[in-house]
Amino acid sequence: MSVSNRLFTVGPVEVFDDTLKAMSKPMMIHRGEDYKRLQRGIVEKLHKVLDTDMQIFLVPASASGFLESCVRCGVNERMTSLSNGSFGDRWGSIGQANGKIVTKIDVPWGKAIRGSDVATKIQPTAEAVTIISNESSTGVLNPTQEIVKVIRAEEDPLIFVDGVTSVGAVDLKIKEMNIDALVFGTQKAFALPPGLAILCASERLIKKAEKVQNRGYYFDILEIKKAADKDLPLTTPPVSLMYGMEYQLDKMLKEGMANRYARHHAMAETSRDWAKKRFKLYAEKGYLSETITVVETGKLDVARLDKELKARGFEVSPGYGKLKDNTFRIGHMGDLTVKDVKDLLKTLDVVLEVMK
Ligand SMILES: Cc1ncc(COP(=O)(O)O)c(C=O)c1O
Repeated sequence: MSVSNRLFTVGPVEVFDDTLKAMSKPMMIHRGEDYKRLQRGIVEKLHKVLDTDMQIFLVPASASGFLESCVRCGVNERMTSLSNGSFGDRWGSIGQANGKIVTKIDVPWGKAIRGSDVATKIQPTAEAVTIISNESSTGVLNPTQEIVKVIRAEEDPLIFVDGVTSVGAVDLKIKEMNIDALVFGTQKAFALPPGLAILCASERLIKKAEKVQNRGYYFDILEIKKAADKDLPLTTPPVSLMYGMEYQLDKMLKEGMANRYARHHAMAETSRDWAKKRFKLYAEKGYLSETITVVETGKLDVARLDKELKARGFEVSPGYGKLKDNTFRIGHMGDLTVKDVKDLLKTLDVVLEVMK
């Protein structure tokens, strides 16, 4: 397989040459003033880009590191996990793997989780509730704000949000949300290589962590915060990736977040229109992901489609988990444009013609 395929994947996504170049600056030691300036600058720019006052922490990991950290530092015994796909299931499993008692609220795959699905269902004993903002296996953008509002009207658990495939592409209106954690990574809508996980944390989560035992070390929010308060990392950080992060954040600020969100919406619309004409969308109308189109293909040989597409220099993502054989996923996020998406769709049409 060529390593230079254009990636319309669910992540890692296409990283543009200018970004890769920005990452190739000389290495530095992560204890000096230059490093502190880099970390401080990234955190300040993240506050602007995300429009949040929450505390922001970085660790060298994929996003799952901080998903685990939330349940490990924020839950003593019981949590509730909302799921309408593989990644919803996964956060519940992460809780169980860490010895927590997990109650699941399941919604059929392809449907969005609505406020009405959680109303009266959160137990007063639930210390935390986990929500996936954009369910990457099904291409559903859950109405997180609505869900949070319904939970908060009845109970007062910590609320953890997985923003892995929505942060940077969708305006989550974090300030209006009253959540305790928002987790994401570099390899999705930030259009960077994988390797850095980001957590926006509330004061409440930090206070709760003080009362939770066995938080571990590497992902202990309190240890990470102690270092972050001095603009330092807890362990050796991926400095090159952080050069890239700073560069991408500047790019986002220059583009303007409203423009960035509008560009993602336009790419999503282009991709959905194409998919609706040729196949079916897996996700429910009204809750379609702005970053991932999950195309339900019926009997089409998706393995062959993948092969033919790669032979022409493009790559999409296969269906995820139990949707592997009857869907494929088009990722349209990061620095890609509508023109890029049109290039892909044109090539997909050529492939479909060949496969007739
Ligand atoms: C919604 C969602 N959550 C969590 C993950 C896991 O993220 P990571 O692989 O960065 O740990 C993914 C990965 O695709 C995802 O799409």
